[in-house]
Amino acid sequence: MQKISKLGVLTSGGDAPGMNPCIRAVVRTGIYNGLNVVGIRKGYQGLIENDMYDMNPRSVSNILNLGGTILKTARCLPFRTDEGMETAYQNLKNQGINALVVIGGDGTFTGALRFSKKYPDIQVIGVPGTIDNDLYGSTYTLGFDTATNTVVEAIDKIRDTADAHDRLFFIEVMGRDSGAIALRAGVCCGAEAILLPEKATAIDDLIANLKGGQNNKKSSSIVIVAEGDKNGGVYDIARKVQQEIKFYDIKVTILGHLQRGGSPSAFDRVLGCRLGYAAVKALLRGETQKMVGLQANYIKMTSIEEALTQHEFKLEEDLMEMADILSI
Ligand code: F6P
Repeated sequence: MQKISKLGVLTSGGDAPGMNPCIRAVVRTGIYNGLNVVGIRKGYQGLIENDMYDMNPRSVSNILNLGGTILKTARCLPFRTDEGMETAYQNLKNQGINALVVIGGDGTFTGALRFSKKYPDIQVIGVPGTIDNDLYGSTYTLGFDTATNTVVEAIDKIRDTADAHDRLFFIEVMGRDSGAIALRAGVCCGAEAILLPEKATAIDDLIANLKGGQNNKKSSSIVIVAEGDKNGGVYDIARKVQQEIKFYDIKVTILGHLQRGGSPSAFDRVLGCRLGYAAVKALLRGETQKMVGLQANYIKMTSIEEALTQHEFKLEEDLMEMADILSI
């Protein structure tokens, strides 16, 4: 087992609330265990540009409550090339870093896996940090809980005005190919319909459902559309529905990037601390190419390869069925 000389930590891809608590845990667990810890700015871009700095326990003071990431993040195309990876590797070597914690989503893990296969002398542990909740091996990813709460708060407000005007709102939420935020927010807000990438909904069925709601004397209706839904986008869906439904005035809201910001929830703070702590412990045990995750409330390790290839993310069938029934 190689001895860790220096530990690097980075956040990559879309930021997620909870990344900062995780960085704090990595830095302090590393230092507690006698490691030097280096913060790498802007994800893989910082590796290539040699943008790194030594961290100490005070570098991560008072960040538990902060959204975003103090290390900054980026989606870095050059890291996908052999040249980019080689430059990153040489920079790590020059800095004396031989272990990395990478916090991010599937794009981050794809890069991490390729890199550590090419340069196995750099140990790599991944932490699932994405609001999308779409990584196999962790029931929850960092940021998902906060983002869902943010969406619920926003939709509750929209419900107030929808109800006041007897309107139908189509609300698009993030999640890339995952409907996880949409489904949970839909349950929390009593959405009349939830359009998910995981479950095809025909527009005709949606229209019939909304007409049924009107017959049931619903004054307002909310349809949540996951951004990955395959019906052609929220504006297109709203236009098709408006052609068939005249009793509602229809509005569209795209919540967009506000879903990624904000102070992490208590859940995401605890999760960030646990995953960061567990990531460093895994490195100290000599593990590499693994992801730390939460399963049945315990920390479990999954190979990054498996986390990526088992990617078919499954939404809970019972939640989908229940959401339909409870919104009649
Ligand atoms: O992966 C997180 C996420 O917020 C997705 O939900 C969304 O599709 C994407 O990132 C947006 O990425 P960007 O901020 O690069 O536009």
